[in-house]
Amino acid sequence: MAYKNIVLTDSNPGDYFYDEAMKMLRTNVQFSGKNNKVILLTSSYSGEGKSDICFNLAVNLGKAGKKVLLIDADIRKSVYKTRYDIKEETQGLSQYLSGQVEKIDEVVYKTNYENLYMILSGPYAPNPTEMLGDEQFGQLLKAARQVFEYVIIDTPPLGTVVDAAVIGQYCDGAILVIESGAASYRVCQKVKAQLEKSGCKILGAILNKVNYERRGYRSGKYGRGYGYGGKYYGAKYYGGSEES
Ligand SMILES: Nc1ncnc2c1ncn2[C@@H]1O[C@H](COP(=O)(O)OP(=O)(O)O)[C@@H](O)[C@H]1O
Ligand SMILES: [Mg+2]
Repeated sequence: MAYKNIVLTDSNPGDYFYDEAMKMLRTNVQFSGKNNKVILLTSSYSGEGKSDICFNLAVNLGKAGKKVLLIDADIRKSVYKTRYDIKEETQGLSQYLSGQVEKIDEVVYKTNYENLYMILSGPYAPNPTEMLGDEQFGQLLKAARQVFEYVIIDTPPLGTVVDAAVIGQYCDGAILVIESGAASYRVCQKVKAQLEKSGCKILGAILNKVNYERRGYRSGKYGRGYGYGGKYYGAKYYGGSEES
């Protein structure tokens, strides 16, 4: 398939510990069951780290030899073009779903990362929830399943807008991103319930931005309370094959 190319530059990569956490996440996703191919990530609020984790999970699956499609379905607040300094003129999801672009292949881009392909969000649209709930999005994911081994979907926060639950009906599973200390237990429960209502099972949760240096932090089974040096705070995955 002759996809067009885009070049992504990650100018703010995570540190060693974040990297290790992302590899662990990849392993967990791979062992979560062979029918878990189309996976969405969401959180309660924005800024909890979904987009970073989506990208790193997709990159790591690609490195492991899996053909991966990363879809930016956060049409409201897309960050990839600027965060990864994508210079090419591109067309994205909003243009495909609104019928401005007819063929799926025209919104799929081959990236400079091994085995990693992307659908960018496209320009802001006034009605993302309806667009994402449309059967056409379901068709897109159906087609993507035939070509890719994993489809990772970045979504807006479910504590704010319902988009992720709407997308959930087409996914095999969801991963909840929870920023340490940000969302309350009650809000997380609500988000979880909303996803489950859409028929999307929860594969696990990532506790993100964990400050391992904080005095008295009990990291439990996996963390070792290692000293933290870089910009990134640790991320930890709970669920699926590892715990519970
Ligand atoms: N583990 C982490 N430690 C420190 N900062 C992080 C971590 N994960 C993400 N960030 C930062 O938090 C901000 C929000 O991340 P982002 O992935 O855009 O969140 P979301 O997609 O949930 O809105 C970004 O500036 C990102 O660099
Ligand atoms: Mg985001």
